Amino acid sequence: MEWNSYQEGAVEFQLPVTNRVFYNPRARLSRDLAVLAARVEAERLERPLNVLELMSGIGLRTRRLLTESPVESLLANDANMDAFEILQSNLKDDPRVELRNDLAQRLLARLYLEDRRFDWVDIDPFGTPAPYFPWVQGVCKWEGLIYATATDAPVLCGAQRLESLKSYDAVAYYGRECHEFGLRILIGFLQRRLIQANMHGDPLFSVFDGYSWRSLMRVHKGTRNYNPESQGFIAQLPSGEYRTARSGIPVPSAKEGDWYETVRWIGPLWLGHLHDRDFVTAMFRAADEEYFKATRRFLTRVLLEADDLPVVYDLSEIADRMGREVPPRQLVLSRLRALGHRASEVHHNGRAIRVDAPFADILKAWDEPSGILEP
Ligand SMILES: C[S@@+](CC[C@H](N)C(=O)[O-])C[C@H]1O[C@@H](n2cnc3c(N)ncnc32)[C@H](O)[C@@H]1O
Repeated sequence: MEWNSYQEGAVEFQLPVTNRVFYNPRARLSRDLAVLAARVEAERLERPLNVLELMSGIGLRTRRLLTESPVESLLANDANMDAFEILQSNLKDDPRVELRNDLAQRLLARLYLEDRRFDWVDIDPFGTPAPYFPWVQGVCKWEGLIYATATDAPVLCGAQRLESLKSYDAVAYYGRECHEFGLRILIGFLQRRLIQANMHGDPLFSVFDGYSWRSLMRVHKGTRNYNPESQGFIAQLPSGEYRTARSGIPVPSAKEGDWYETVRWIGPLWLGHLHDRDFVTAMFRAADEEYFKATRRFLTRVLLEADDLPVVYDLSEIADRMGREVPPRQLVLSRLRALGHRASEVHHNGRAIRVDAPFADILKAWDEPSGILEP
């Protein structure tokens, strides 16, 4: 059989040339972020981590965690026999590794019955993490970390509305800002499941990387410190304006027409912060190696955004509605700041802004006759 060689991070690996298993370079950022976050967490705990990886695939994340971050033990699982055979051949000699070839749901139930808990639980499915989530709470240590991934773009981006209700109990949004709302729908769902188990999560970082949504959450016991105002809805008015609706805040209403028909509701979703600035800064500092160069750039974008502002506008969407050109983003941001508003870039969309400004102030960006602001 023919084999191809690859290198990612500090790990070299070989894969057979077949369509049954494959290397996915688009998930590299997620693996880089996992390595860096695991370094930071081990430093915080002053000891190496105990990791559960529910869907290891061919074991690339597994090998990167074992090679590049402090890991004491790692339970690596995958239900697919082809992937598992490669996983096994790569990892069977590492005394820190326990291998399983089981359905994640079944493995989670077994681990729960055995009362085994981990510092880090990684869920990296194809599609939604929703089916596994009710079980995950039972295997993560208090103050431990859950790293959840979703790749179901048609669902989180509102093209399959029934599926978004099925997976996330939420109405998703079909439009240019869908990646932001999808990220917040995912976090909102994870939080609601944790709350039901009398726990809550604190997002350490939450990103859309152009391919998938990822959130790393610290899991806390109890719900006393959970703020119910951090979940709510976003309503889109006929003008294109977005408004958040938290409990206790009046619902937005459209001036013309019947708002039942004209206001589009998105959610329920997470309206709180996406990242923990100190944690992400520590990840940035831990990214010494040259091969983390692109990931350091990504983390810089993450650190620069006002992630507690859930309203995001894609400027090209507003421009298209008006039949105008898109003004330069930096000029829009500086004008909004000059008006006293908070405004920032968005880590996953080069044409979008995060703002707390009323829509009328955002539209002022187009006030110049050419549609382009003077510096
Ligand atoms: C995205 S890949 C994992 C990639 C891997 N985590 C990495 O970063 O290299 C998803 C894997 O989930 C496995 N999988 C899907 N459903 C599963 C289930 N219910 N239980 C266990 N494994 C499952 C698939 O076989 C596949 O290998």
